[in-house]
Amino acid sequence: MLSQSETLARLGARRADFSLDRDLYCDPGVLAADLDHIWYREWLFAVPACELDKTGAYATLQIGAYPVVVIRGADGRIRAFHNVCRHRGQRLCSKASGTTPKLVCPYHQWTYDLDGKLIFARDMGEDFDAAKFGLKKVHCVDLGGMVFICLAEVPPAISDLAPKLTSYLAPSGLAEAKVAFSSTIIENGNWKLVIENNRECYHCGGSHPSLCRTYSDNPRMTAMEGPDSASPDILDHWKRCEAAGLPSRFTNHARMQWRLARIPLLNNAESYTMSTKAAVSKRMGAMPFNDAGSLLFFHYPNTWNHFLADHAIVFRILPISPTETQVTTKWLVHKDAVEGVDYDLETLTRVWLNTNDEDRQVVEENQKGILSPAYEPGPYSKIQEEGVIQFIDWYCGVMTERLGPQPALAA
Ligand code: FES
Repeated sequence: MLSQSETLARLGARRADFSLDRDLYCDPGVLAADLDHIWYREWLFAVPACELDKTGAYATLQIGAYPVVVIRGADGRIRAFHNVCRHRGQRLCSKASGTTPKLVCPYHQWTYDLDGKLIFARDMGEDFDAAKFGLKKVHCVDLGGMVFICLAEVPPAISDLAPKLTSYLAPSGLAEAKVAFSSTIIENGNWKLVIENNRECYHCGGSHPSLCRTYSDNPRMTAMEGPDSASPDILDHWKRCEAAGLPSRFTNHARMQWRLARIPLLNNAESYTMSTKAAVSKRMGAMPFNDAGSLLFFHYPNTWNHFLADHAIVFRILPISPTETQVTTKWLVHKDAVEGVDYDLETLTRVWLNTNDEDRQVVEENQKGILSPAYEPGPYSKIQEEGVIQFIDWYCGVMTERLGPQPALAA
């Protein structure tokens, strides 16, 4: 198991534009460092806000060692708490999701209000001060219908992302959406391999026959350098969408931790379906036409998303072990869309259920090959895998800064 200084040395020894050293994809010490320095410090996508559709609706997630519950309060606000009772530490909610009027510990029934306040603790004596034993808070923000949480005591700034994401998502009307379907799978691969695979379409032609009906694997499609720099077909798409009130141009974080851009689908396809036509007859929010393409949004380390005219697909990954990653996908549709009337679930979900399973297979085979002593880092294609290079540069840069010697505090 690598120590943090050994992990730092491996990062320092890496060859630019090559895949990483084997241990960086499978060593338990490296995962511990990834958790400490990325997963416990960055904003993470938790759930779409519309999933918590009423007072007391909650969802749980496990981030490394931390169980977290995200819940909608009586005031309508979504909050996140450590899912740990302040009495003797029982996990409060064991289910993935549900609805509850109060958070009641199953062990000795300490009871918390939906804002985390302890409101009942039986036989604790007269000098017991319940105000000191509220649930521990986790930072939580709702950005345009996507709920992000952060475990850090002081979270990183999100002020650059917040206005952009809110305005880009506004036409999709996520507050007026519902979850039509949810899928969670485990991929037997390191979380970085899952992201690497997502950040290139070099593999799409060979792996994704369903997706390639509508999604272009041309690397120029995502090779954008600024709001005015893209291929002519994308520039035309941006102009048409913006004229209809859809923010569309490429915009990104200074270090590319996140990116937003609306791209056209192949041959004016409307949606990710086998027929290329819309899967849902009721469009999302204020989307003006069916062939608005896909608004792409990723945020490292744990989400990528597609927002189409007729539905949205949000993805969340969470590391389970050095070589296991949980991938949760949710299909959102307009809240008034009725299954069997406005959409057929099989038509809606087929392409990405296929694609997720195909991605699972390539990630698992990638991990198996990397576990071989014969593996050595290989070169990324600068034509096809620019997104992977950029993700690995972000990862290595952040980890090197955080694992390296820290500047002394001023006296
Ligand atoms: Fe929760 Fe005892 S551990 S009430």
